[in-house]
Amino acid sequence: PQVRHYEFVVEEMLGAPDGVTKPMLVVNGLFPGPTIEVNQYDRLVVRVINRIQNATTIHWHGIPQNGTAYYDGTAGITECGIPPGQSLTYDFTFGDFSGTTWWHSHYDTQYTDGVTGALIVHPTFPDPPGFPTWDEELVIELTDVYHTFSTILNAQYLSPSGPIGGSAGDEPVPDSGALNGLGQYHGLGNYFNFTLQPNKTYRLRLIHTGSLADIRFSVDNHPLTVIEADGTLTEPTVVAGLTLAVAQRYSVLLTTNQTNGSYWMRTLQQTDMFTYKLPGQNPDNRGIISYGTGTGPTLPPAKEDPGATLGGMQLNDLDPYTLPPAVPEAVPDNTKFYQVSFEFDNLPSGASRAYMNGTSWDPLPKTNILLEIQRAYNAGRAFAPEGASVQFGNQFLITEDKIEVLDLVLENNDNGDHPFHLHGYSPWMIGVGDSPYDPNNVTLNTVNPLSRDTVEIPANGWVRLRFITYNPGAWTLHCHISWHMSAGLLMQFVTLPSVAATLPIPQVIANMCSAA
Ligand code: C2O
Repeated sequence: PQVRHYEFVVEEMLGAPDGVTKPMLVVNGLFPGPTIEVNQYDRLVVRVINRIQNATTIHWHGIPQNGTAYYDGTAGITECGIPPGQSLTYDFTFGDFSGTTWWHSHYDTQYTDGVTGALIVHPTFPDPPGFPTWDEELVIELTDVYHTFSTILNAQYLSPSGPIGGSAGDEPVPDSGALNGLGQYHGLGNYFNFTLQPNKTYRLRLIHTGSLADIRFSVDNHPLTVIEADGTLTEPTVVAGLTLAVAQRYSVLLTTNQTNGSYWMRTLQQTDMFTYKLPGQNPDNRGIISYGTGTGPTLPPAKEDPGATLGGMQLNDLDPYTLPPAVPEAVPDNTKFYQVSFEFDNLPSGASRAYMNGTSWDPLPKTNILLEIQRAYNAGRAFAPEGASVQFGNQFLITEDKIEVLDLVLENNDNGDHPFHLHGYSPWMIGVGDSPYDPNNVTLNTVNPLSRDTVEIPANGWVRLRFITYNPGAWTLHCHISWHMSAGLLMQFVTLPSVAATLPIPQVIANMCSAA
C-alpha cells in the first residue's frame, strides 16, 4: 500500500457549468473537484483548507472508516465542521472498499454548490474468473445545476411559502445539469466530449453527484454492460440505459464498434421527481463520444434517443432491484431487527419537515455525536438511557454493544422516491415491496443479494437491508437528496458504542466543536 497526499482548498468562485455565471463553492478552483485515485488499502492524507465563509467538511462516500469514524466528515455526527480560515487533515486507510465512489462536503446543503469530486479505488485482488475486461477507463460525473446558491434555495424550501415558483414543501428544482462539469442552457454552455479509439472497450465510471432527481444515462446506438454498482461487481448485464439515484454509482462497459462518428451521451433528469416546473429549465443535458472521425468531435446529428434498439439489439433498462452481484456472498441470518418509517409533515407555520420514526434532524451542528459518546463514557455515564438500546427521540439508533446481524426496514410513507445512504457499511438489499411493511408477507433474497451503500426506497414502498455491525462509530443514515437532509430526513446509527467511545478522536476535531 502507498500513502497518497492531497491538498484541498475549499473556496468560493464564479463558475458557469451550463454557460450561466453563478457563485460556486469548489475545491482547488475545479468543478467537478479533483479526482482522487488510489489502490485498495492505501492510506489517504488530505489537508482541507477552508477559505469559504461557512464551516465545511469532506465526506468520503462509501468508505467504511473502520477505526477512523472521526474522519467520516459528517457535520453533527463525526465532526462539527472546519471553521472558516482553518484546516483539517483527514488521514485514513482504505478498507475493503474498491470501486467507484466520490467525496463531497457533508455540511448542510453545501455540496450542491459544487464541493464534489470522484474517488476511484482500484482493487488489489483479481476480478472473478471470466469477468469481462476493458482497455481504458473514463470517469463520468452527472449532476443537476442550480443557478442560485443552495443556502438561499434551502431557506426558501424550508419556509412556509416554499421555493419561488413552487409551494410549501416543494424541493427547489434545478435549472439544468452537467456531465463532467458541462451542461446546456438555452444555447449557452458546452458539451463535454471524449475522443476515443474505434473497436476498444471502455469502462465508464458513472457517479451521480447531484442533489435531487434520478438521472437516466445512455449513449446513442451503444449497448452498455453494467459491471459494478456502488463498489460491488455485478453480474455483467447488458442494458439500453440505466437510472442513477442521487449518490449512486455504476460502471458500464461500452465498445466503440458502431459506425465511426459522434454520438450523444444523454443524461436525462427524471422530471416526475420535480414537484413544480421552473420556466426555462433544461433537464436534458448531454455530452459527446466520438471515434474514428479523424477530425475530432463533431456535434452528433440532432436526433431522438434511439430508445431500446441499440447496436442492432432490443434491450431494456437496468432494474436496480434484481441486479445480482458477480460473486454471491454467504448471507447470515439476522439477529436483530429494526424498522424506521419516514414521512414529511407540516409545522404549524406551514413549513415542511421530514421525520424518521417521528423525529426530525437539526442540521446545524453544535457538537457531534461521536464526541458526546466519548464524553459520556469518560464521565462514567452510559450514552443511551439505562436499559434502552434504541432511542429515537434524539435521532439516535444505538445497536447493542456487540456485533449483530442487523436487519433494517426503511419504510417510505411519502409519495416520492428517496435514495437512502448508510455510512460505514455496504448493506445487502434483501427485500423490496409496497408500504406498509407487513412482516407476514415478505419475500427475501438471501441467496444473491447485492450489497451497496445507496438504495432508492420506492415511493410508498419499503426496502429491507441486512448488515453486520462490525464497525465502531456514529454513522449517518439519510436520504441523499440535499434538500431532504436539510429538512431532517437523517438519523444516526451508532454501532459498537463502547468501542466507538475509545476511538482516538484527534484533539483538533474536538477543538472545532468548542469553537463552533
Ligand atoms: Cu454521500 Cu451522508 O453521504
